Amino acid sequence: MIPIKDRAAIARMRESCAIAATVLHRLQALVQPGINTYDLDQAGRDLIAACGARSADFGYQIGSRRFPAYTCLSVNEEVVHGIGSLKRILRTGDILSLDVTVEAGGYIGDNAITVPVGAIPPRVAELLQTTEEALRVGIRQAQVGNRIGDISHAIQTYVEARGFSVVRDLVGHGVGRTMHEEPQIPNFGRRGTGERMKPGMTLAIEPMVNLGAYHVKTLDDGWTVVTVDGLPSAHFEHTVLTTEKGPEILTIPRPPPSPALPTSPILTYSTRN
Ligand code: MF3
Ligand code: CO
Ligand code: CO
Repeated sequence: MIPIKDRAAIARMRESCAIAATVLHRLQALVQPGINTYDLDQAGRDLIAACGARSADFGYQIGSRRFPAYTCLSVNEEVVHGIGSLKRILRTGDILSLDVTVEAGGYIGDNAITVPVGAIPPRVAELLQTTEEALRVGIRQAQVGNRIGDISHAIQTYVEARGFSVVRDLVGHGVGRTMHEEPQIPNFGRRGTGERMKPGMTLAIEPMVNLGAYHVKTLDDGWTVVTVDGLPSAHFEHTVLTTEKGPEILTIPRPPPSPALPTSPILTYSTRN
C-alpha cells in the first residue's frame, strides 16, 4: 500500500522539500574546478543545519553499515551514493551528481541534479539534458489514475530513444516519514503496470542514466555505485505530490533563499584544498 499524506503531512513535506531544494541550489553554486567533494559535503552539512534541518543521509543504515557523509556526491562514472573525499578534486570536464535528502519536522525531502564542471564533451552534455528531461517526462505521468509503471515506461522510452541506458539496480521511491517508502519506482518497465496513483502520494522520481551500458556495481566502500564500463552516469531527482490537478513538484527552492542561510562563510571551504 502506498501511503497517502493528509493535509498536515503535506504541509510538512512542503517544508522539508523546500529546504532540500534550497540546500541543493546553494550547494551547486559552489561547484567549480579545484574544489574537492569533501569540502562540498561539509558545505552541505552547514547549509542543512542553517535551515534547521537534519541530513537524512548521515547515519543512514543498510545492514550494519552507516552512510558517513551528509550528502551524496557522485563524480563521472559514480552513479549515486558517492562519499565526499578530499582526494576527489573536481576538474574541468567532470560531471557531478549532488543528491540532498533532509528531514525537517519529521518528514523527508529528496532531490538531486547533475552539473557540469566547466566545459564537458558534447555527448556528456546530451546525457545531462536527456536525464533532466527524462525526469520531466516521468513526472508528467504522475497523474491520479495512472499507474507507477506509466512513469517507469515513459522514462525508459525517452532515454533509450536517445541511445543511453537506464540503471536497473536502483529505483525511485515513495518518500515521507522515512526516506524510502512504498512504492518502488523503477526507471524501466511496462505501461499500465503497478499500483494506481491517488491524490496525496509523495514520490521521489529519479532517473539514473548511463552513457554506456546499464550495468552497475558497488565499490568496496560499501556505498559508491559506479558504472561497470567506467563511462559517465547522470542523475536527476524531484519529490513530487500527486493531486487531482496533476503532479506538483515539491522540491523547488524558496524564491528569496532562506534568510537563515549564511552567504559568505560557505565559500571559504573552496580555499582549503
Ligand atoms: N538520496 C538517495 C535517494 O535518492 C538515498 C541516499 S542513501 C544514503 O534515495 F545512503 F546516502 F543515505
Ligand atoms: Co536522492
Ligand atoms: Co531518492
